[in-house]
Amino acid sequence: MTRRQFLHGVAAAGAATMLPARIFSLPAAPGMEIIRTATDRVELRLPSGQRRFRILQLTDTHFGTNSDANRAKDAASRALIRQMHHAHQPDLLFHTGDFVNNDKENPVHAAYDFMNDLGTPWALVYGNHDHPNGKPGQLSLDELAKRQENSISGWASRGGNERDYCWRAELVQDGETRASLFAFNTGDPQTGMIINPSQTAWFLRQMEEDRRAGLDHPIFVMQHIPTVEFKTVYDQNRAVGRRGEDVCYELDKGEIFGHFQASGRVRAIFVGHDHVNDYVGDYEGIKLIYGKCSGYSGYGYWQRGGRLIDIDCGTARGRTRVVLGPNMQEAPEWRVTMQEADAG
Ligand SMILES: [Fe+2]
Repeated sequence: MTRRQFLHGVAAAGAATMLPARIFSLPAAPGMEIIRTATDRVELRLPSGQRRFRILQLTDTHFGTNSDANRAKDAASRALIRQMHHAHQPDLLFHTGDFVNNDKENPVHAAYDFMNDLGTPWALVYGNHDHPNGKPGQLSLDELAKRQENSISGWASRGGNERDYCWRAELVQDGETRASLFAFNTGDPQTGMIINPSQTAWFLRQMEEDRRAGLDHPIFVMQHIPTVEFKTVYDQNRAVGRRGEDVCYELDKGEIFGHFQASGRVRAIFVGHDHVNDYVGDYEGIKLIYGKCSGYSGYGYWQRGGRLIDIDCGTARGRTRVVLGPNMQEAPEWRVTMQEADAG
């Protein structure tokens, strides 16, 4: 499918009278169909017999700062992502925010084309650096969303023209939903960089609609900012991996975790934001999992990489591990983070 054909599909998907619409099909995911059924929902229809759905989580690439030094770093980030993409053949690339430094003056947004052209569907939840702050050359979130051409990302209406960038992707096989990915924009400095009240209401509506439909399959949450429980689980020595900085949970006070827990369905929360934290913990039955910083233009000296998330299509159980590019030299201290953790 060409980019133009894809865009046509997205435009059709935006018109309520034409839903559902097939929006995406690329050779990297043979047989998988992606159907947008609403602006805040897509179905990933997996071929019968596919045993594993593989996500490569990327995070905090901080692409697009307009300087020679950053252009060189961005090229290294692109090379790393290409290497990991080639080596691990994911069904979906999921970026958990701070994709582009859209809060700097005159940022470059070419990284959108890079992701669109990788040949595999991708998704993005915005981080704080994706949010514009009034400097020249920045794009609004709505403009950024238009750049995400081969992306499954979506949005929920907040009434009028207001959008919340939260959405869900359903993993469907043989007509049955096996698991859902729930994505939340936690990057907005105006709302304390947390899941805001209208996104919380959206989540509760989803749970109620699912309950009425008799759906109770597992949920994997994707967001940029860690919740406060990421701090607690490490402080209580219930995490494996490294903490190289304080947990920046911003204004989160534990409310959304309570809702996730009450749903009885959230198995894991995957985040970014803290570039030199990469641990995994189990807090009251929900796995709390840092991604691995994937780009060189942000702070932090640790080796860059990604996180594989393998979801078993039969049981919906997940497994996850950190990966590096195949040409990366492993530092001795790295080995403690190569754990494989049960994610659900
Ligand atoms: Fe970041």
